[in-house]
Amino acid sequence: MKALILVGGYGTRLRPLTLTRPKPLVEFCNKPMLMHQIEALVKVGVTHIILAVSYMGPQLEAALKPEEQRLGITITLSHEDEPMGTAGPLALAREHLMGPDPFFVLNSDIVCEFPFASLLEFHRRHGKEGTISVTRVEEPSRYGVVVYDEEDGLVRSFVEKPREFVSNKINAGLYVFNPSVLDRIPRQRTSIEKETFPAMVSLGELYAVELKGFWMDIGKPEDFLKGMSLFLGFLSRLKHSDISLEEGMRGNVLKDSSAKIGKGCLIGPDVTIGPGVVIEDGVCIKRCTVMKDTVIKSHSWLENCIIGWRCVVGQWARLENLTVLGEDVRVADEVHINGGMVLPHKEITTSVPEPEVIM
Ligand code: GDD
Ligand code: MG
Repeated sequence: MKALILVGGYGTRLRPLTLTRPKPLVEFCNKPMLMHQIEALVKVGVTHIILAVSYMGPQLEAALKPEEQRLGITITLSHEDEPMGTAGPLALAREHLMGPDPFFVLNSDIVCEFPFASLLEFHRRHGKEGTISVTRVEEPSRYGVVVYDEEDGLVRSFVEKPREFVSNKINAGLYVFNPSVLDRIPRQRTSIEKETFPAMVSLGELYAVELKGFWMDIGKPEDFLKGMSLFLGFLSRLKHSDISLEEGMRGNVLKDSSAKIGKGCLIGPDVTIGPGVVIEDGVCIKRCTVMKDTVIKSHSWLENCIIGWRCVVGQWARLENLTVLGEDVRVADEVHINGGMVLPHKEITTSVPEPEVIM
């Protein structure tokens, strides 16, 4: 089977992390976002993955070549000269997707338990052209809202980012299509949500199935951290061996085995610590992701932050309230940052008392 992953967006909502690395390669719970999806697809028998890219193609290609061999699959990059939206890339990759079997399509910025096997089984059972997975959220206006028959799954309407409340069931960004869908999509910028889905709905060709388990679009910092907490909770329920049970850790903590933690620290709940990270003595970290090769000096206090790669956080520093440090940022001793978005390669020597972007 085949799958196409839409990796074209610029990832602006996840800046400053995406200033030095394409969004799909930003590690979510110590693995590039894209690899969570690719590995789940491989588990259900996908052997050819097409990545629809419109920028940072060379970086993605370099990162994925070794994975192709490791997983024994083919990864093809389908390059757009101009962004082609969320449906246009399917038309562009037509030659790869054509064939006898249905194929998967995924948004690249979502995490969930990836129940592809049951999605495919439901798709085969109703026999129509497409199936989308749906999930329930509190703020549906930010998503594509789906109204469907809960008995058989037939979609009655699909409204992208509605102004008025329609339903709290939304498009989770995981689809299965028969190749005949390709005949509906022109080889130009086209929106799957605003053009393709409404056309399929009017012909009774689109079905929906509710996703089991957790789901999150992790395309912005607040949701990235929410998604992390959900994912760590999921690992912990599975009694996954990656969840640390070391002294000084409280709640769910995911720590790479090469990271070093000092004495008298309090880590957790809901913390991810990347490879090569050094956390000195007496540090307190709650609900944060700390990326590869960062150093957190002694007695600092971090809550609700994403700390990018190769940063140094000084002694007695206090970082909180959705502070995000881009790659290679240095925070001096005793500095307080309240909700700062710090661009890569910066040095912060004075406190940031209110949320702001530091360029
Ligand atoms: N190749 C390519 N080209 N990919 C693109 C392009 C493009 O021009 N534009 C967007 N994408 C990719 C993004 O990288 C992302 O993986 C996916 O398409 C969806 O785009 P987003 O920009 O993240 O959309 P959204 O989050 O506002 O809404 C979408 O996702 C929601 C679920 O998270 C929609 O599909 C909604 O209906 C859905 O509810
Ligand atoms: Mg998104």
